[in-house]
Amino acid sequence: MDHYAVIGNPIAHSKSPLIHAAFARQTGQRLDYRRILGSREDFAGDVRAFVADGGRGLNVTVPFKQEAWALLGDRSPRAEAAGAVNTIIVLDGGLLRGDNTDGVGLVRDLAGNQGFDFTGQRVLLLGAGGAARGVLGALLEAGPGRLVVANRTASRAVALAAAAADARVSGSGLDALAGQSFDLIINATSSGLDGDVPALPDGLLAAGGWTYDMLYGDAPTPFCNWGEAQGAARTLDGLGMLVEQAAESFRLWRGVAPDTAPVIAMLRAGGIETKFEG
Ligand code: ATR
Repeated sequence: MDHYAVIGNPIAHSKSPLIHAAFARQTGQRLDYRRILGSREDFAGDVRAFVADGGRGLNVTVPFKQEAWALLGDRSPRAEAAGAVNTIIVLDGGLLRGDNTDGVGLVRDLAGNQGFDFTGQRVLLLGAGGAARGVLGALLEAGPGRLVVANRTASRAVALAAAAADARVSGSGLDALAGQSFDLIINATSSGLDGDVPALPDGLLAAGGWTYDMLYGDAPTPFCNWGEAQGAARTLDGLGMLVEQAAESFRLWRGVAPDTAPVIAMLRAGGIETKFEG
């Protein structure tokens, strides 16, 4: 039996064990997957202990994704761009490789599951922390015409946009958005964890525009409610992204891509609590 786990702090409410158990059943893979409460003082030690015990792969969640990036010398290009690692692969001989499946998870949920066609669209990405940086590269690969990164602290958005080095990308504060129009607004801020939404001008959403909250919950998230109030054609939460990022991790570890739709449906039916990925 191969061993996998998700490491974070806190970790008790992580849905990842449920998701990976469902993938394993569905694909006939023999594995177990548990939760590890990571130590804020010695994350590296926790990873070493897991590998010494024969662990084959880890998902890394809040607050360790950046630390995992720094810990691993061998990183995929998308982990490199994200500045964060959410998937650790234990290679034969115990060498560790870091990858990041968050961005691809978001785009597969939006484009694949929900049918959003990014081509030429005007996309607004709210936030400039780890969550926003983690998905920026994948969003650009999806082919939008324009991508604005906007953040409460404008300088962080400007820096993130500059680092993308892509003519389609610009960064600004939230007030500076007034008068602009977007086909898709993605919330990658942590404001929802406090029951809050970023302070946005009205009228940002184009007719037929969508909103996507990377947060998810049993009840509509504050940002989903904001989208409704702004007349969004669709208001999506991050549950699909959670399952899609897990599916990509599973594929990296096991070489087989699980079917995500029944697992998303299972989680929707089963009730979930409000939180970020993992
Ligand atoms: P994460 O790794 O989850 O992105 P982070 O790096 O702490 O966490 O970033 C949190 C993001 O949410 C930031 O963009 C933060 O804005 P600031 O850079 O101005 O701090 C944003 N954020 C958190 N609470 C917010 C709120 N109430 N309104 C608007 N933005 C908020």
